[in-house]
Amino acid sequence: MLKRIAVLVSGGGTNLQAIIDARESGIIKSGEISAVISSSKDAYALKRAEAAGIPYFVVDRKEHKDSDEFSNKLLETLEDIKPDLVVLAGFMCILTSEFIKRFENQIINVHPSLIPSFCGGGYYGIKVHEKALEYGVKISGATVHFVNEITDGGAIILQKAVEVKEEDSAEELQRRIMEQAEWKLLPKAIELFCSGKLEINGRKVIVKE
Ligand code: GAR
Repeated sequence: MLKRIAVLVSGGGTNLQAIIDARESGIIKSGEISAVISSSKDAYALKRAEAAGIPYFVVDRKEHKDSDEFSNKLLETLEDIKPDLVVLAGFMCILTSEFIKRFENQIINVHPSLIPSFCGGGYYGIKVHEKALEYGVKISGATVHFVNEITDGGAIILQKAVEVKEEDSAEELQRRIMEQAEWKLLPKAIELFCSGKLEINGRKVIVKE
Protein backbone atom coordinates (compact mmCIF):
# COMPACT_ATOMS: atom_id res chain seq x y z
CA MET A 1 0.00 0.00 0.00
CA LEU A 2 1.30 3.42 -0.91
CA LYS A 3 1.92 5.74 2.03
CA ARG A 4 -0.21 8.86 2.09
CA ILE A 5 1.78 12.10 2.02
CA ALA A 6 0.47 15.56 2.95
CA VAL A 7 2.71 18.43 1.85
CA LEU A 8 2.49 21.73 3.75
CA VAL A 9 3.64 24.84 1.89
CA SER A 10 3.65 28.63 2.23
CA GLY A 11 5.21 30.10 -0.92
CA GLY A 12 6.75 29.30 -4.28
CA GLY A 13 6.66 25.56 -3.87
CA THR A 14 9.81 24.54 -5.74
CA ASN A 15 10.32 21.79 -3.18
CA LEU A 16 6.74 20.65 -3.72
CA GLN A 17 7.53 20.58 -7.46
CA ALA A 18 10.60 18.44 -6.78
CA ILE A 19 8.38 15.98 -4.88
CA ILE A 20 5.79 15.92 -7.69
CA ASP A 21 8.55 15.34 -10.28
CA ALA A 22 10.17 12.63 -8.15
CA ARG A 23 6.85 10.82 -7.87
CA GLU A 24 6.42 11.01 -11.65
CA SER A 25 9.96 9.84 -12.42
CA GLY A 26 9.76 6.96 -9.93
CA ILE A 27 12.27 8.29 -7.38
CA ILE A 28 9.36 8.22 -4.94
CA LYS A 29 7.84 4.76 -5.38
CA SER A 30 6.37 3.99 -1.99
CA GLY A 31 4.15 7.01 -1.38
CA GLU A 32 1.69 9.28 -3.10
CA ILE A 33 0.89 12.96 -2.53
CA SER A 34 -2.63 12.84 -1.10
CA ALA A 35 -2.97 16.58 -0.52
CA VAL A 36 -1.21 19.93 -0.42
CA ILE A 37 -2.09 22.44 2.29
CA SER A 38 -0.98 26.06 2.04
CA SER A 39 -0.77 28.59 4.86
CA SER A 40 -1.37 31.35 2.32
CA LYS A 41 -4.05 31.61 -0.34
CA ASP A 42 -1.60 33.43 -2.64
CA ALA A 43 1.12 30.75 -2.60
CA TYR A 44 2.29 29.79 -6.10
CA ALA A 45 2.63 26.26 -4.72
CA LEU A 46 -1.16 25.96 -5.02
CA LYS A 47 -0.90 26.39 -8.80
CA ARG A 48 1.68 23.60 -8.90
CA ALA A 49 -0.68 21.30 -6.96
CA GLU A 50 -3.55 22.18 -9.27
CA ALA A 51 -1.46 21.58 -12.40
CA ALA A 52 -0.47 18.16 -11.05
CA GLY A 53 -4.07 17.25 -10.21
CA ILE A 54 -3.41 17.00 -6.48
CA PRO A 55 -6.18 18.00 -4.03
CA TYR A 56 -5.23 21.23 -2.27
CA PHE A 57 -6.50 23.20 0.71
CA VAL A 58 -5.80 26.64 2.16
CA VAL A 59 -5.55 27.13 5.91
CA ASP A 60 -4.62 30.80 5.91
CA ARG A 61 -2.36 31.79 8.80
CA LYS A 62 -3.59 35.39 8.51
CA GLU A 63 -7.17 34.34 9.13
CA HIS A 64 -6.37 32.66 12.45
CA LYS A 65 -5.70 34.73 15.52
CA ASP A 66 -2.84 32.66 16.90
CA SER A 67 -0.71 29.60 16.38
CA ASP A 68 -3.10 27.44 18.48
CA GLU A 69 -6.14 28.27 16.40
CA PHE A 70 -4.15 27.85 13.17
CA SER A 71 -2.65 24.49 14.18
CA ASN A 72 -6.07 23.21 15.28
CA LYS A 73 -7.53 24.04 11.89
CA LEU A 74 -4.60 22.30 10.21
CA LEU A 75 -5.15 19.24 12.40
CA GLU A 76 -8.81 19.21 11.47
CA THR A 77 -7.94 19.34 7.77
CA LEU A 78 -5.35 16.58 8.15
CA GLU A 79 -7.77 14.29 10.03
CA ASP A 80 -9.71 13.94 6.78
CA ILE A 81 -6.58 13.40 4.69
CA LYS A 82 -5.19 10.75 7.09
CA PRO A 83 -1.53 11.12 6.07
CA ASP A 84 1.19 8.67 7.06
CA LEU A 85 3.75 11.41 6.49
CA VAL A 86 3.51 15.21 6.76
CA VAL A 87 6.18 17.04 4.75
CA LEU A 88 7.00 20.68 5.51
CA ALA A 89 8.24 21.96 2.14
CA GLY A 90 8.90 25.67 2.55
CA PHE A 91 6.28 25.87 5.30
CA MET A 92 6.93 29.09 7.21
CA CYS A 93 4.69 28.67 10.27
CA ILE A 94 5.45 27.32 13.72
CA LEU A 95 3.34 24.32 14.75
CA THR A 96 2.03 23.73 18.27
CA SER A 97 3.27 20.87 20.43
CA GLU A 98 -0.19 19.32 20.20
CA PHE A 99 0.20 19.14 16.41
CA ILE A 100 3.71 17.70 16.68
CA LYS A 101 2.60 15.06 19.22
CA ARG A 102 -0.32 14.01 17.02
CA PHE A 103 2.13 13.23 14.21
CA GLU A 104 5.13 12.19 16.30
CA ASN A 105 7.99 10.95 14.07
CA GLN A 106 5.75 11.45 11.04
CA ILE A 107 6.68 15.06 10.18
CA ILE A 108 9.78 15.96 8.18
CA ASN A 109 11.12 19.39 7.22
CA VAL A 110 13.65 20.68 4.72
CA HIS A 111 15.89 23.49 5.97
CA PRO A 112 18.32 25.40 3.72
CA SER A 113 21.49 25.16 5.84
CA LEU A 114 23.67 22.55 7.49
CA ILE A 115 21.91 22.27 10.87
CA PRO A 116 22.95 23.20 13.59
CA SER A 117 24.26 26.25 11.70
CA PHE A 118 21.88 29.04 10.69
CA CYS A 119 18.71 27.51 12.05
CA GLY A 120 16.11 28.03 14.77
CA GLY A 121 13.89 31.04 15.41
CA GLY A 122 14.15 33.77 12.75
CA TYR A 123 16.10 31.59 10.29
CA TYR A 124 13.85 30.85 7.35
CA GLY A 125 13.85 31.31 3.58
CA ILE A 126 16.27 33.88 2.17
CA LYS A 127 17.27 35.07 5.70
CA VAL A 128 19.20 31.82 6.21
CA HIS A 129 21.41 32.58 3.20
CA GLU A 130 21.87 36.25 4.14
CA LYS A 131 23.14 35.13 7.56
CA ALA A 132 25.44 32.50 6.05
CA LEU A 133 26.99 35.09 3.69
CA GLU A 134 27.30 37.64 6.51
CA TYR A 135 29.15 35.05 8.61
CA GLY A 136 31.48 34.24 5.71
CA VAL A 137 31.09 30.46 5.65
CA LYS A 138 32.68 28.67 2.68
CA ILE A 139 30.17 25.85 2.64
CA SER A 140 26.51 25.72 3.43
CA GLY A 141 23.89 23.21 2.31
CA ALA A 142 20.57 21.68 3.26
CA THR A 143 19.16 19.37 5.91
CA VAL A 144 16.09 17.15 6.02
CA HIS A 145 15.08 16.31 9.57
CA PHE A 146 12.25 15.01 11.71
CA VAL A 147 10.24 17.75 13.39
CA ASN A 148 10.10 17.94 17.15
CA GLU A 149 9.12 20.77 19.49
CA ILE A 150 12.43 22.58 19.06
CA THR A 151 12.52 24.68 15.86
CA ASP A 152 14.86 22.87 13.43
CA GLY A 153 15.91 20.68 16.37
CA GLY A 154 14.66 17.20 15.43
CA ALA A 155 16.76 14.20 14.44
CA ILE A 156 18.64 14.66 11.16
CA ILE A 157 17.78 12.33 8.26
CA LEU A 158 19.96 13.62 5.40
CA GLN A 159 22.36 16.51 4.80
CA LYS A 160 24.29 17.76 1.79
CA ALA A 161 27.04 20.38 1.65
CA VAL A 162 27.08 23.03 -1.09
CA GLU A 163 29.92 25.41 -1.97
CA VAL A 164 29.54 29.13 -1.19
CA LYS A 165 31.19 31.32 -3.84
CA GLU A 166 32.85 34.64 -2.98
CA GLU A 167 30.65 36.66 -5.30
CA ASP A 168 27.37 34.97 -4.24
CA SER A 169 24.26 37.01 -3.52
CA ALA A 170 21.79 35.47 -1.09
CA GLU A 171 19.54 34.63 -4.04
CA GLU A 172 22.35 32.90 -5.96
CA LEU A 173 23.31 30.85 -2.91
CA GLN A 174 19.67 29.96 -2.26
CA ARG A 175 19.24 28.73 -5.84
CA ARG A 176 22.43 26.62 -5.77
CA ILE A 177 21.42 25.02 -2.45
CA MET A 178 17.96 24.25 -3.82
CA GLU A 179 19.31 22.75 -7.05
CA GLN A 180 22.21 20.78 -5.59
CA ALA A 181 20.73 19.77 -2.25
CA GLU A 182 17.09 20.45 -1.33
CA TRP A 183 15.37 19.17 -4.46
CA LYS A 184 17.37 15.93 -4.25
CA LEU A 185 17.42 15.32 -0.50
CA LEU A 186 13.73 15.88 0.17
CA PRO A 187 12.40 13.29 -2.35
CA LYS A 188 15.10 10.85 -1.22
CA ALA A 189 14.12 11.24 2.45
CA ILE A 190 10.44 10.82 1.54
CA GLU A 191 11.13 7.55 -0.27
CA LEU A 192 13.26 6.28 2.63
CA PHE A 193 10.45 7.09 5.06
CA CYS A 194 7.68 5.61 2.90
CA SER A 195 9.62 2.41 2.25
CA GLY A 196 10.16 1.93 5.98
CA LYS A 197 13.93 2.41 5.83
CA LEU A 198 14.26 5.04 8.55
CA GLU A 199 14.77 4.01 12.14
CA ILE A 200 14.93 6.64 14.89
CA ASN A 201 17.20 5.87 17.79
CA GLY A 202 17.24 8.87 20.14
CA ARG A 203 18.87 11.73 18.21
CA LYS A 204 20.15 9.39 15.52
CA VAL A 205 18.33 8.32 12.39
CA ILE A 206 19.57 5.03 10.99
CA VAL A 207 19.04 4.45 7.28
CA LYS A 208 18.41 0.74 6.67
CA GLU A 209 19.46 0.18 3.07
C1 GAR B 1 13.32 26.56 0.77
O1 GAR B 1 14.65 26.97 0.60
C2 GAR B 1 13.17 25.85 2.10
O2 GAR B 1 14.26 25.07 2.46
C3 GAR B 1 13.01 27.03 3.03
O3 GAR B 1 12.25 27.96 2.32
C4 GAR B 1 12.40 27.76 0.91
C5 GAR B 1 11.04 27.53 0.32
O4 GAR B 1 11.09 27.43 -1.08
N1 GAR B 1 12.44 26.62 4.27
C6 GAR B 1 12.74 27.16 5.44
O5 GAR B 1 13.49 28.10 5.57
C7 GAR B 1 12.03 26.55 6.63
N2 GAR B 1 12.74 26.88 7.84
P1 GAR B 1 9.97 26.71 -1.93
O6 GAR B 1 8.63 27.28 -1.48
O7 GAR B 1 10.29 27.10 -3.33
O8 GAR B 1 10.06 25.22 -1.70
